Amino acid sequence: MNPINKAIVSVVKNLPQSIVFIFAKKYIAGETLEDGIRVVRELNSKGILATMDVLGEAVTNKEESIQAKNECLKVLDAINEFKLNSNLSVKPTQMGLNIDKEFCYHQFSEIIEHASKYNNFVRIDMEDSSTTYATFELYRKLKSKYDNVGVVIQAYLKRIINEISRNDMKDTNYRLCKGIYIEPEEIAYQDRQEVRENFIRILNYLFDNGNYVGIATHDDYLIENAYKMIKEKNISKDKFEFQMLYGVKEKLRDKINADGYKIRVYVPFGKHWYNYSIRRLQENPQVAWYITKSIFSHN
Ligand code: FDA
Repeated sequence: MNPINKAIVSVVKNLPQSIVFIFAKKYIAGETLEDGIRVVRELNSKGILATMDVLGEAVTNKEESIQAKNECLKVLDAINEFKLNSNLSVKPTQMGLNIDKEFCYHQFSEIIEHASKYNNFVRIDMEDSSTTYATFELYRKLKSKYDNVGVVIQAYLKRIINEISRNDMKDTNYRLCKGIYIEPEEIAYQDRQEVRENFIRILNYLFDNGNYVGIATHDDYLIENAYKMIKEKNISKDKFEFQMLYGVKEKLRDKINADGYKIRVYVPFGKHWYNYSIRRLQENPQVAWYITKSIFSHN
């Protein structure tokens, strides 16, 4: 991020949450499960799938984490009750990864078992690099017991191919994304083109190894390359889907849908919207600039 954009982001970070909510609204369905259901219904009516996310992360006590797990169970009930075409995404630190790994495993087990009663699927989101290996370990333990669970790969991580080429990662259902956290250059590519190249390298590897891939990007360059790879390798439509975030590049999303490809939108909702929204903001400083201008100008 250039220094001006960085400064804008830090200004916005110091604003009251009620003001940050003005821009955050675009990226979250709302604060309640009903909001999530409404947005997923709208998407489904256009033939777009969803993955729902109860916002929250880095919980510091088990009570809070159990509460978040209970909300996840309710989401799965609602998806079933309202016949929504959606699965569920969950963050490991929301389920207590940083508190107690065994506890976190049991929290996920409960969610995944609940999902399997409804033939549904749970995606373990990937967080910052302090949690990468613990998350893969958690995933492998869950995968040895359940088949309705998948994980995420961040293409900005330099050595991530070592992780996915392990024998016990075979037949994994992956979401492939660039990665959203700010990571040091020792472990993560900083250059936009290098991240893209690694994304393409990984996608190629995953297709060649028969994995299911959620291609999660809004980057036209990567989407074009994915289209090309899918055609060249003649990848069957039941081996991949495109994924995008709610509120980002809807035109491109609708084009992918119109092209006849499966597309899933990540629909976050809940009271803990702040950290998620700040990350979205860091990725799109033009929005920060726009907010700053609208807040400080008298027009
Ligand atoms: P890039 O950032 O280059 O964006 C391409 C274009 O999209 C931009 O030029 C801009 O026009 C537009 N755009 C991007 N972000 C925008 C925004 N916030 N607002 C408006 N326009 C925007 N990361 C992670 O670390 N762990 C995870 O589990 C996930 N999960 C996940 C799920 C899904 C469904 C998606 C799509 C993404 C994630 N991510 C994630 C985030 C991901 O790692 C990445 O940071 C973002 O998708 C942005 O990268 P792009 O590939 O979209 O390209």
